Amino acid sequence: MDKQNRKAIIAGNWKMNKTATEAAELIDALIPAVKGAGCEVVICTPFTSLAAAVEKTRGTNLHVGAENVHFEKSGAYTGEISADMLVDLGVEYVITGHSERRQYFAETDETVNKRTRAALAAGLKVIVCVGENLAQREQGVTEELVRLQTKIALGGVSAEEMKNVVIAYEPVWAIGTGRTATSEQAQEVCAAIRKVLAELYGQAVATATTVQYGGSMNAANADELLAKPDVDGGLIGGASLKADAFAAIVAAAGK
Ligand code: PGA
Repeated sequence: MDKQNRKAIIAGNWKMNKTATEAAELIDALIPAVKGAGCEVVICTPFTSLAAAVEKTRGTNLHVGAENVHFEKSGAYTGEISADMLVDLGVEYVITGHSERRQYFAETDETVNKRTRAALAAGLKVIVCVGENLAQREQGVTEELVRLQTKIALGGVSAEEMKNVVIAYEPVWAIGTGRTATSEQAQEVCAAIRKVLAELYGQAVATATTVQYGGSMNAANADELLAKPDVDGGLIGGASLKADAFAAIVAAAGK
């Protein structure tokens, strides 16, 4: 099966949670809890915890990611963090295009593309988020919208760079709401994303690219979602803030 040829990745997106002190405690709890995982495990932490996260996870199977990155290399961009700064810290992954960035911080498909390209150029692995809101789902434009978001986000990204790209399908109406997409809905859109990747890069790249689902994924629903042929992992918000809950999802992905 194609799925066996792709990397299953469970990534925690901590969002604006955990002080550096709390983050250190959570990482201490996570290291033994996900040891020996059958999938790749990533924690995306606030900027203030990245250096400590990299240090603490050295020699473990935990990979560290940031939640955002700026597209310029350096300069007068008060409050922003460049890809080179992340790489220098030892950070491996970064999330781009999260719906909260789009919704609250005026991110557009174009800036998501710029951030994605800058991160890839610096050698980071990128988790690119796409997904429709409730009105768009109800209007029946989910697939068109997600296709468009995926295409624009990946503009100028080469087939070679796709080795470092993960796509996360995150329906906005399912994020932090406790309302998960059904496994059929998740499968349908993840498969549509893979189809776009095939159109853009050919079947081999599409088959090799990890496509995650995100949106209220938890220990109770992870098994069913992850069993779907085009759902290769998860981007986990709320349930990534507790070691046992996150470890249960990691265990489901390793099955
Ligand atoms: P949630 O968040 O798991 O809390 O719904 C997912 C995300 O926003 O990445």
